[in-house]
Amino acid sequence: MLRTNTCGELNLNDINKSVELCGWVQRSRDLGGMTFIDLRDRYGITQLVFNMETDSRLCEEARKLGREFVIRAKGTVAERSNKNLKIPTGEIEIIVQSLEVLNPSELPPFTIEDNTDGGDDLRMKYRYLDIRRNPVKEALLLRAKVAAETRVYLNDQKFAEVETPVLIKSTPEGARDFVVPSRMNPGEFYALPQSPQTFKQLLMVAGMDRYYQIVKCFRDEDLRADRQPEFTQIDCEMSFVGQEDVLSMFEGLIRQLFIKIKNTDIGTLPRMSYADAMKHYGNDKPDIRFEMKLKDIKTLTAGKNFKVFDDAQTVLAICAKGCAAYTRKQIDELTDWVKRPQIGANGMVYLRVNADGTFKSSVDKFYGEEDLKKWAEACDASGGDLILILAGEENKTRKGMSELRLEMGERLGLRDRTTFKALWVTDFPLLEYSEEHKRWHAMHHPFTSPKPEDMEKLSSDPGSVRANAYDMVINGVEVGGGSIRIHDKSLQQKMFSILGFSDEDALAQFGFLMNAFRYGAPPHGGIAFGFDRLCSLFGGSDSIRDYIAFPKNNSGRDVMIDSPSQISSEQLAELKLRVESAKDSV
Ligand code: AMO
Repeated sequence: MLRTNTCGELNLNDINKSVELCGWVQRSRDLGGMTFIDLRDRYGITQLVFNMETDSRLCEEARKLGREFVIRAKGTVAERSNKNLKIPTGEIEIIVQSLEVLNPSELPPFTIEDNTDGGDDLRMKYRYLDIRRNPVKEALLLRAKVAAETRVYLNDQKFAEVETPVLIKSTPEGARDFVVPSRMNPGEFYALPQSPQTFKQLLMVAGMDRYYQIVKCFRDEDLRADRQPEFTQIDCEMSFVGQEDVLSMFEGLIRQLFIKIKNTDIGTLPRMSYADAMKHYGNDKPDIRFEMKLKDIKTLTAGKNFKVFDDAQTVLAICAKGCAAYTRKQIDELTDWVKRPQIGANGMVYLRVNADGTFKSSVDKFYGEEDLKKWAEACDASGGDLILILAGEENKTRKGMSELRLEMGERLGLRDRTTFKALWVTDFPLLEYSEEHKRWHAMHHPFTSPKPEDMEKLSSDPGSVRANAYDMVINGVEVGGGSIRIHDKSLQQKMFSILGFSDEDALAQFGFLMNAFRYGAPPHGGIAFGFDRLCSLFGGSDSIRDYIAFPKNNSGRDVMIDSPSQISSEQLAELKLRVESAKDSV
């Protein structure tokens, strides 16, 4: 070892000890007679002192050190006269006796401080420097801790960690695949897994009983703050279980993680059906940190010659507590907000419930006091509240209202990042109809089993069949999802046929799974958690990028290694791909 201690551990108990430390020069201060250097490593910062009077040569050497030089210092621990009680090492300093420059450094392109002057792009380009900063380093250490605690829980529960392949087969369901050309099989491609779904099911057929993997998944989809093209799942599967067993096992995992990481017990998770989540929150991942439920007031608004409401499929309202004093300007601004293309509302109606019991609405030309009172009652509004109303086509309006609810929750400070409200959303529809493709799609994936009580509707009314599927939602974020799987070959075949696969296609795409089901597949089910999303929740950030060591930017690029990139014509030829750059062919 080049060091006896780290920069984060020495304190008053170590006075007079002879120590050797290694690290990076955070900053140096030259006070004439004395030079101070803050030496930093992953564990903290320790102050080094050089005295011009006792050793002028060494002091001169210290003055030449620049920011981010890597050095090794040997010296004695001494009590500081000017203590910094904000850091654990702030009561001591090292009187340096010898100094070695292990590597000089150029001036970094941004300051390595908690509040840096570097913009996003620059920090991503020099991510290895960014990681030297406390907030980024802490995020990665948090991630490491979440992974370690996950393994402790799952290992205790007899889950075996098994790796599944990364070069697999492209399938038409789900998001777009990333593909990899095969040199040895010209014209053929592997796909990177969107998840290890079929492999974990095969491991159940193989008798592994309980499997998990903290595993990279790849999806070529549009990126958002909570989506990366490569991300990590805590992927799990169990045999001989029903839905309750899976929910209780993984509720246990998440509760344990909250206890270990956040020192808080989130308690038993409430359950909400998909239908209720859509009805009350307009969303299948409801943020239940606050109420403000959606109220359908269509029947209360009908027949008063207000065409917008009369023609609308649905009229939805939310009650913003204590907001009756919103000015006209604030309401106009909110109206503009819902009219943005992302929400797409045509307008917004408001109803002020004044403290004296009177009402003021943008539509009081059409509705009298009695009508408005009924609206207020339906929304549980009292004096001082503001009711916001959107009307239009059912799905679009519900979605828009869900967004408006979240926005109001944010503006009213109801979405506190240090409060955690988790729940299970259950009873998802098995299928959703795609108008674009004119066929049914699996809402979760094609291996999810229908609820036994809905099985008979599979042919007659597929849209009404519910799935044995569940999501875990925390603070409005879908952190995990899973299902009980089909383990019967003929039911799986039927499912593929409902999804529009011909028998040949199903065999070509998923023959390996159907074959496996011929040899004694146990009943099984599981779940996968979005590991990056869990970490960002624990860390209190909206962006999963902060919790990934080397993330991609919003265009899916790694700006540090400059990828994706073109490959040489030799490589292309070897792969028997057309020697034509993608950029030329676009
Ligand atoms: P699903 O597709 O719901 O299920 O994914 C599981 C969880 O993974 C996270 N997630 C993502 N995180 C970051 N970036 C992405 N692009 C991204 N996509 C998904 C979410 C999500 O809840 N095989 C099934 C699981 C199962 O049935 O067991 C699956 O992958 O938090």
